[in-house]
Amino acid sequence: MPDTTPYVIDEMISAKSIAARIEALAKEIRAEFDGSEQLVVVGLLRGSFVFIADLVRELDLPVEVDFIEASSYGDGMESSREVRILKDLRSGIENRDVLVVEDIVDTGFTLSHVERLLRNRAPRRLKTIALLDKPTRREVDVRADWTGFEIPDEFVVGYGIDYAQRDRNLPYIGKVRFTSD
Ligand code: PRP
Ligand code: MN
Ligand code: MG
Repeated sequence: MPDTTPYVIDEMISAKSIAARIEALAKEIRAEFDGSEQLVVVGLLRGSFVFIADLVRELDLPVEVDFIEASSYGDGMESSREVRILKDLRSGIENRDVLVVEDIVDTGFTLSHVERLLRNRAPRRLKTIALLDKPTRREVDVRADWTGFEIPDEFVVGYGIDYAQRDRNLPYIGKVRFTSD
């Protein structure tokens, strides 16, 4: 496991608040895609795996679940600004309804890259959702169609989000606080 500076985690968004927010978002998405033959819900690995699992279970719609793995951070804290596709979709999305599910939009490089990539495949409709948004960090002009929570520029972990591959399994969103000793 890579070394990390010692830190503690303070709860920022509880599991209960996340669940309530997802329920509300799912209603909006359901209304948007009402009548869709089959919605392709695309999770961006790895960070979105918890969010997509909870979201699709609240979506009362026929869905296909697929994944793309895009990575820009590796094990570091800084975006490399270079998005690598490590795993592509299994299905074609031409003429289909697609919902891209992301855990967090930070600089915006990941979401804008994936959105462009998928739009080139001529989906019928493509929408995006992010659980968290850090608007003050944006370097690329991109915005998810739905956002769970806007958060300040804090280093967050949990609910799928990692720090050097740790803490993805926390049931809540926590704030990393570095301890000097
Ligand atoms: C993290 C996070 C988002 C992206 C957001 O992914 O899960 O996908 O960074 O940052 P950006 O807006 O600055 O691009 P990461 O690259 O760490 O991969 P992971 O999902 O496997 O942790
Ligand atoms: Mn990610
Ligand atoms: Mg990461």
